[in-house]
Amino acid sequence: MTETNSYKPVVQTLSWSDGILTIIDQTRLPVEVVYEEQESIEQVWDSIKKLKVRGAPAIGIAGAYGLLYAVKDKQDLDTEEFLKILKQQAEYLEASRPTAVNLSWALKRMVSKADSLASLSAGKLYMELEKEAIAIHDEDRVLCRGMGESGMPLIKDGIGVLTHCNAGSLATSELGTATAPMYLAHAAGLKFKVYADETRPLLQGARLTAWELQQSGLDVTLITDNMAAFMMSKGFIDLAITGTDRVAANGDTANKIGTMGVAILAKYFNIPLYIACPSSTFDMNTPSGDEIVIEERSAEEVTFFGERRTGPEGIQVRNPAFDVTPHELITGFITENGIVRPPFKENLAKIFAK
Ligand code: MRU
Repeated sequence: MTETNSYKPVVQTLSWSDGILTIIDQTRLPVEVVYEEQESIEQVWDSIKKLKVRGAPAIGIAGAYGLLYAVKDKQDLDTEEFLKILKQQAEYLEASRPTAVNLSWALKRMVSKADSLASLSAGKLYMELEKEAIAIHDEDRVLCRGMGESGMPLIKDGIGVLTHCNAGSLATSELGTATAPMYLAHAAGLKFKVYADETRPLLQGARLTAWELQQSGLDVTLITDNMAAFMMSKGFIDLAITGTDRVAANGDTANKIGTMGVAILAKYFNIPLYIACPSSTFDMNTPSGDEIVIEERSAEEVTFFGERRTGPEGIQVRNPAFDVTPHELITGFITENGIVRPPFKENLAKIFAK
């Protein structure tokens, strides 16, 4: 039996070395495993926008490192000028994707760190900011492990677990959020099946979740999104776990488009639905899901399947990248500090008041 606390998944989503951010290009998975060095803040912006790096925690980490590129060659400036550029460029990076709170959270953390050290020279400030970005990355590993430990007791021998999109290693620093309990349960020798929804339109479930779990030796089965109801009705699914991009103060949860459908089905079939996320994904400044900005992406993601056109030219298209699951449909939130259960508004308020 593998020791759960030494368990590491097989992919390295992001790394930072000698001032260079390297990402695995997720648009090329599962066909090719290609690592891409980032050379500028513009390239990081583009990599986030195009989902080369994606998943809420991973874009937060990429954003923190990406911001360093904006000020790397500004270390000779006076601190005031350095801070001005840092803040402008943080706003620029934040605009790359609006829904996941982790990106703005990480950028705000970098900017407030800089503000708190405004008495330093720009050169020293850069070094402190680099340490802060590395800390955000390192902390994410610990958070993933914490979610794994909190969620692992939900996974029992012989069960079927459904997940949607990719809230795995590829979406974070290491163990993922939704996948962390699965990785730890697998390392502890439990036998269970994971069902990965393919996740139209960009197939993060098929291309990424199915791939990374298979690479790590988990028992994973790929289904299309419209098979989830059938699989639930036949008793294959005992538990659903997804990640999230932003949780409002009342527990309403934004996640990849299709998550709300899974939640409605899970309620109908009496299957518990847990959302795994670190504390940094709770946005206590957003009262409910109605205020969460939902990213709308290009029509081509819907009218093409890879290179092949699958919708008529000129057709009207909607492509919201996320939906909001009402909190009533959620059984609990798997966090690094344990599981938060309803009533969410009250319980989250208590937790965040501390
Ligand atoms: O558009 P994506 O691929 O970035 O969407 C990702 C998701 O919806 C994930 O479930 C979410 O970010 C949680 S990742 C731990």
